[in-house]
Amino acid sequence: MDLLVLSGIEAIGRKAASIFYELSESSIASRGRFAVALSGGSTPKGFLRVLGSRYQKKVQWDRVEVFFADERLVPAGHEESNYRMVREELLSGIPARAHRVRAELEPEDAALIYEAEIRQVFGAGLPDFDLIVLGMGEDGHTASLFPGSRVLQETGRLAAPVYVERLKSSRITLTLPVINNARNIVFLVSGRSKARTLRRVLGGKGEDLPAARVRPAGGSLLWLVDEAAYSS
Ligand code: 6PG
Repeated sequence: MDLLVLSGIEAIGRKAASIFYELSESSIASRGRFAVALSGGSTPKGFLRVLGSRYQKKVQWDRVEVFFADERLVPAGHEESNYRMVREELLSGIPARAHRVRAELEPEDAALIYEAEIRQVFGAGLPDFDLIVLGMGEDGHTASLFPGSRVLQETGRLAAPVYVERLKSSRITLTLPVINNARNIVFLVSGRSKARTLRRVLGGKGEDLPAARVRPAGGSLLWLVDEAAYSS
């Protein structure tokens, strides 16, 4: 596991966009495509904006398959929609293929259809995303894997429906086996409010936290954090 402490969220966005570009070039060169899963929330917005501007003409977007680490089950235009945020910050300006979670469907149907789309790109077996970009909540959740959730034990499904009681939010999330089978995982963590949880996760004292359960079997794991999140 690698850790980079940067000055702030803008620096995280620039570094993450540069890593995205480098990985896309090497993945496309060796496997003809770059399959990435993006997270929602506020932290990745700057990263996506840099990708869509500075890298708009550099990335071979027509070889890029964009998936989502998780999605809230709200209409695509809803302010809570991760797809909406990623479309506004990145997808609207590039010719990548985006695999939207059909969030307008019933949770089980949305999960099954999303899983079928993943299998269409990766084939049978466990998908090996070239890159999964994750955030972390103050409670140590990542994607829509929340502390104490039964979905943390899911081993058979690639994507599963989950109801987050605390947020009264129905979601679809990639499961831990899929996340941990990625070739590269990058966490983006910014802000003092995350410092306590980040210290626990990085210090090996956060076993119960979903973000601490992200340990790619053979892939790389990089934490891009800012000084505020890394502060004691
Ligand atoms: C989501 C994200 C979620 C996010 C964390 C951190 O759909 O909300 O996938 O896991 O990464 O909640 O969110 P912030 O970046 O807004 O702090």
